[in-house]
Amino acid sequence: MNVSDSEVVSRIIQDAGYEIVSSPKNANVVLLNTCSVRENAERKIFERLSSLKKFKKSSQLNVIGILGCMAERMRSKLIDENDIVDLAVGPDEYRKVPELIRKAFTGEKGIAVKLSRVETYDDIEPLRKEGISAWLAVMRGCDKFCSFCVVPFTRGRERSRTLKSIVDEVVKLWDDGFKEVTLLGQNVNSYRCPETSSDFADLLSSCANAVPNMRIRFVTSHPQDMSNKLIETIASHKNICKYIHLPLQSGSNRILALMNRNYTVEHFTERISYIRSLIPDCALSTDIIAGFPTETLEDHKKTLQALEEIRFDGAYMFKYSPRENTKAYKLGDDVPEQEKIYRLNEIIELQNRISKTINLTEHGKVHEVLVEGPSKKNKQKWQGRSDTNKVVIFQPNEEVKVGKIVRIKILSSTSATLFGELV
Ligand code: 5AD
Ligand code: SF4
Repeated sequence: MNVSDSEVVSRIIQDAGYEIVSSPKNANVVLLNTCSVRENAERKIFERLSSLKKFKKSSQLNVIGILGCMAERMRSKLIDENDIVDLAVGPDEYRKVPELIRKAFTGEKGIAVKLSRVETYDDIEPLRKEGISAWLAVMRGCDKFCSFCVVPFTRGRERSRTLKSIVDEVVKLWDDGFKEVTLLGQNVNSYRCPETSSDFADLLSSCANAVPNMRIRFVTSHPQDMSNKLIETIASHKNICKYIHLPLQSGSNRILALMNRNYTVEHFTERISYIRSLIPDCALSTDIIAGFPTETLEDHKKTLQALEEIRFDGAYMFKYSPRENTKAYKLGDDVPEQEKIYRLNEIIELQNRISKTINLTEHGKVHEVLVEGPSKKNKQKWQGRSDTNKVVIFQPNEEVKVGKIVRIKILSSTSATLFGELV
């Protein structure tokens, strides 16, 4: 979502006459788009600020701005406590960035952190880098208020773009040469068109039908809004990718209730069963938090047990990070740091083992892979992604081109990557 927001901001400032440069060495203005979801993300920004400090003294760098969730959360404190910061702009105020940059050049510091109930940047075409895969934000904000999460406070109330404007943008992306689009939302499956009341399943099928050869992906879904209709829609369109990211967070119903997730492990596994009954080869990934307040060893074991039973293809796994103003913050942070790390490592080890075993079952299978280009680790080999969102490495021939779909037979794998050959 932040990459997508940065593309929106890039368009806004370019339209205002600024030029985007590729290195901070050549920049008069540096804008850092920030995340507040965990303390670690914020720590990285403070580190970046301290490295920019020297720069600001010795180069042509005049203006430093903080955009996004940290600006929203910390407001004037960000500028008061960091003298090199000139502007702080929250996620719903990006239209003001050019004006605030202009004022910053005259020495005036600026803050714009009002949240909006309507801003979706619907009329702004993100300034995307050339490539084959595009992000497309279909909604903003979140109304779920999971007790650990700062997002409803930093990104405000949930609001969706119109179905028509999204479908038009997908068509344009195809015309511009993109082969894959990922529809984005904090809670993408609670999407509702403000004009027609169409739901996310309607949006997905409209996009899939409008551009039948475009690969359509989406993140992130909430288990509560994972309707039968949505699963049936994914199953019935060849170009909607067979990959679903569905955050479980914990395997303990007591902790899920404290997290205000509004589902039980039983509901979650029932949804997974329905997905697998209609789409047997669907890849699944999840998010897990280790060491939520009051989590006992027994709760933790239930998370391990749920991972064993569900067997996700992959997972994003985090240590609980207390966030001011959230409901969970008031519960304290009573799981000791060492214990949190221990539990997190246990979860990571188990998940790696599961991912590795699942990938072994891919050997001999043929995947349709969208070619991305040379592999990051070994430039001789090329990489792409399967429909199921797995990275596939292979030896290219002269006919292989970026953006083409090739058929690759899988020969070997690790927990994170598949290796194969052209067929
Ligand atoms: N601590 C740890 N992880 C968190 N997440 C959100 N808030 C926190 C927090 N306070 C994780 C959740 C969410 C993902 C985007 O980040 O797992 O799904
Ligand atoms: Fe945060 Fe929950 Fe909303 Fe996801 S659904 S953004 S975890 S409040």
